[in-house]
Amino acid sequence: MDAKALYELSKVYLAGKQSSDEAIQLAELIQVLHFHEWKYAVQNSPIISDQEYDTLYKMLEALEQKYPDKIQSDSPTQRVSSDLSSKFPTVPHLVPMLSLDNSYNLEDLEDFDKRIKKLTGIEESQAIEYVVEPKFDGGSIALIYEDNQISRGATRGNGVKGDQITANLRTMRSIPLSADFKSRGIVKAELRGEALIRKDIFQKINSEREEAGLEIFANPRNAATGGLRMKDPSQAAQRGIEAFIYQMGYAVDANGQNVMDQFATHYETISLLGDLGFKIPAEETKVCKDIKTVFDFVKHWEEKRESYPYEIDGMVIKVNNLALQERCGYTSHHPRWAIAFKFKAKQATSKLLNVEYQIGKIGSVTPVAKIEPVALAGVTVSSISLHNEEFIVSKDLRLGDTVLVERAGDVIPYIVKSMAELRDGSEEVIQFPRACPSCQTTLIKAETEAAWRCPNITCEAQVLQKMVFHVSKSAMDIDGFGKSIVEKFYEHGFIKSIADIYALDYEEIAKLEGFGERSMTNLKAAIDKAKSNPISRLLHSLSIHHLGKKASKLLAQELQHVMELKDWNEENFIEIKDIGPVVASNVLAYFSDPANLALLKQLEDNGVNFTQTEEDKPLEVAADAPLVGKSILFTGTLTQMGRKEAQGLAAAAGAKLISAVSSKLDILVAGEKAGSKLKKAQKIGTVQILTEQEFIDILNSKAKDSNETQLSLF
Ligand code: IVH
Repeated sequence: MDAKALYELSKVYLAGKQSSDEAIQLAELIQVLHFHEWKYAVQNSPIISDQEYDTLYKMLEALEQKYPDKIQSDSPTQRVSSDLSSKFPTVPHLVPMLSLDNSYNLEDLEDFDKRIKKLTGIEESQAIEYVVEPKFDGGSIALIYEDNQISRGATRGNGVKGDQITANLRTMRSIPLSADFKSRGIVKAELRGEALIRKDIFQKINSEREEAGLEIFANPRNAATGGLRMKDPSQAAQRGIEAFIYQMGYAVDANGQNVMDQFATHYETISLLGDLGFKIPAEETKVCKDIKTVFDFVKHWEEKRESYPYEIDGMVIKVNNLALQERCGYTSHHPRWAIAFKFKAKQATSKLLNVEYQIGKIGSVTPVAKIEPVALAGVTVSSISLHNEEFIVSKDLRLGDTVLVERAGDVIPYIVKSMAELRDGSEEVIQFPRACPSCQTTLIKAETEAAWRCPNITCEAQVLQKMVFHVSKSAMDIDGFGKSIVEKFYEHGFIKSIADIYALDYEEIAKLEGFGERSMTNLKAAIDKAKSNPISRLLHSLSIHHLGKKASKLLAQELQHVMELKDWNEENFIEIKDIGPVVASNVLAYFSDPANLALLKQLEDNGVNFTQTEEDKPLEVAADAPLVGKSILFTGTLTQMGRKEAQGLAAAAGAKLISAVSSKLDILVAGEKAGSKLKKAQKIGTVQILTEQEFIDILNSKAKDSNETQLSLF
């Protein structure tokens, strides 16, 4: 049925004038709904309203409820199957998912063109035809269709194996549940593509998350890759992920014979996929007659990049002729017949107006450049950290300079350089202060450090920062006690040090504007809760130079009571592995300063816990824990958990965490986009390489049955 017929058929159903044969209705509604899904999700041009779509969908749903044995797996109602939960087993790709080589300029492209000619024995004077497509910046996926039905979908994983995320991919309307590959004699095919979230939808997701107090995503790619792996497919469905298909990697007939040779060009395969209902880059793709045309097209797209609705970080250039592709072959890393052209990082020029100096919690002075506001990749930038004095000197930055600003990785802006050739003589050398801008105390700088510091521990700016850090999530984690409240309370004299936080005069605070009954109760509850925090948090919250979260935890394991540190000496620290002499001497100095001891006493008097809690105690690892005696390292992006969490789980299972690949390494857990570490481990040969899922399986299966796992795995 063609588009017009399907549209008219929809109207027949909407008008209630359909055939009375319910078997026909079932079949027709599936066709009609597939058509509208394609118009909406692939073509971005729906021709019926959402409401009309819902009406048709409900008609089909009602019929399927009546005849449950007639439900087809490719019915639009089967996109989210309620009893399916994604557990992500690991599955091998039919063909490894390789990476791409990179190019950055015309010269690189010309070199690539020369290489292709050499590899294929084509004369220099002859032109090679290329296809150029966007290089989508999302999460790679591989889809398998068998007998015209989607049978499996997976993430790229480590290139050889990926996570099976079929249930989630089935929810995406841009991915057809069935497609007529058999019309081309294809019984099994593997397609490659990229899962993406449109920029405007990404903004919406983030503002909703912000409102709900959830962590926001750094970029659309993270939102998409996270969405691919959500445990609940119906939640994944709500993320608005779309899939572009850019490659047919594998196609065989009923006898398992390769049938790719029926296609002469890459472009032909992609066009077929478009005809079969997949979302393909159509207008964004061009067949170019030679490498110069390629260059013009990629430059054209570099300019258009911002206005394109999806994030792209370059263009991909592929030899169009498939027979030539075959002649070029592959390296272990990338196909020789393709190359990525990477766009320049997003840059703009602006004027350096002023430098302000921020005092950190231990008194470090950070220079911050104030620049004329400039739009960089959709964000207005007016403040940029200059890190330290050395940075300013090495870049020879001057007030009034025209500076080149870049947003690396689309997140943190930085100054690439100043443009000395544009100076008119009015620029001023930046005088890094030698006295604290807040309390005027002379700044000091340790030889080993880059930052100048204010040594005055009563410095107002420093005290404020200490309090802000003390209440923050990574320290005492006092919910709802943000920077602005700290500043307000300080301004009104309610808090002069961190100890005062635990003895607030709530009656006085109630008189402040914006502090109602409810917010007060919540704040009090959060502060009371923090009083019984583990001492590792308390130690970290004191802002002792270099005493981070990890060292605080290690220290807390050794202490019955925080004040024991008063009687410690260097010897005590030497026994603790992973705490170095710098941390040791800073802790000792802190606990020998009477002002600090008075503050600590006040904290304890105000009810803050100083004794070791269960959470502080060292982890007891059972002798038969699954990873006892094994050294482990994580590489690549983990998707089901954070790196820290994985390390914690591994340690709890008895593993020793090490930081480099060597023959001493027993296990390497390779997440997505694993690179040189994975290669090195493969080369060594004795390192056991696990996917993230296999690692999780070891932890889980071991919990059930200890001995068997041990035997089968090692
Ligand atoms: S072709 C075997 N085409 O880029 C061919 N890849 O850096 C290799 N990517 O992991 C892939 N857009 O996820 C190809 N139009 C496109 C692409 C594309 C984005 C991604 C892909 C791959 C990565 C390689």
